[in-house]
Amino acid sequence: MKTNYILIFSALGAVLLSSCLKSRGNNPGLEYAPDMYDSKGYEPYNQIDSNRINPYGMNMREPVKGTVAINQLDYVYPYANNNEGYEAAGIGLMMPATLGEDTVGRGKYLYDVYCSPCHGANGGNDGKVMDKVGKPTWPNYQDAYIQTLPVGKIYHTLTYGKNNMGSHASVLSPTDRWRVIQYVKALAGTASAAAPVNQVDSTTTR
Ligand code: HEC
Repeated sequence: MKTNYILIFSALGAVLLSSCLKSRGNNPGLEYAPDMYDSKGYEPYNQIDSNRINPYGMNMREPVKGTVAINQLDYVYPYANNNEGYEAAGIGLMMPATLGEDTVGRGKYLYDVYCSPCHGANGGNDGKVMDKVGKPTWPNYQDAYIQTLPVGKIYHTLTYGKNNMGSHASVLSPTDRWRVIQYVKALAGTASAAAPVNQVDSTTTR
């Protein structure tokens, strides 16, 4: 009697399991809860058979060209990647007032990660990678060139790169770029040149 029960239950289990293991597709008899596969709720990227208006059946529409997400205005960079843009950035871009002091040392942290391999721990252009790419014309950050270089020009260089230095836009957010610039100016001994400035025109990059 006991063995009978065991037999019945294991047979039942096998049937249940096999129905689970069956792939969906052309097995209409087994897919008794299709809603569990194809959601009837609105999905952003696809809506099987119901949204015939948007491309690819998407419910989500693509944002209008030029759309900027809330609080991401500082990603809008108005200066072109050429010499005129570089000069204009030098005049138009200022250290954003909202930045404040770098109390957590994020600028140094980012500098050590992204810049020191070329520019060296203290801005001496003595990082190992610098030997490979070719040194700048100025010897180190303590040179008058970096001491007097407008922060806007440095921002432009970080955004687009300059000759042998690549762009750092993909690894440094706008705020982080400013943090690094604060640290560059601190290494140059002219930290006050990177003091935050209240800007009247909020449409320029902060
Ligand atoms: C691959 C090596 C390399 C890395 C990494 C690198 N730089 Fe440079 N950097 C250079 C070279 C080379 C120049 C000289 C470019 C020129 O004027 O021809 C330069 C120029 C500069 C200048 C002068 C820009 C100007 O407007 O003339 C600054 C400031 C600077 N780098 C800061 C940084 C900071 C900050 C980082 C890290 C986020 C960084 N660099 C990462 C190689 C590098």
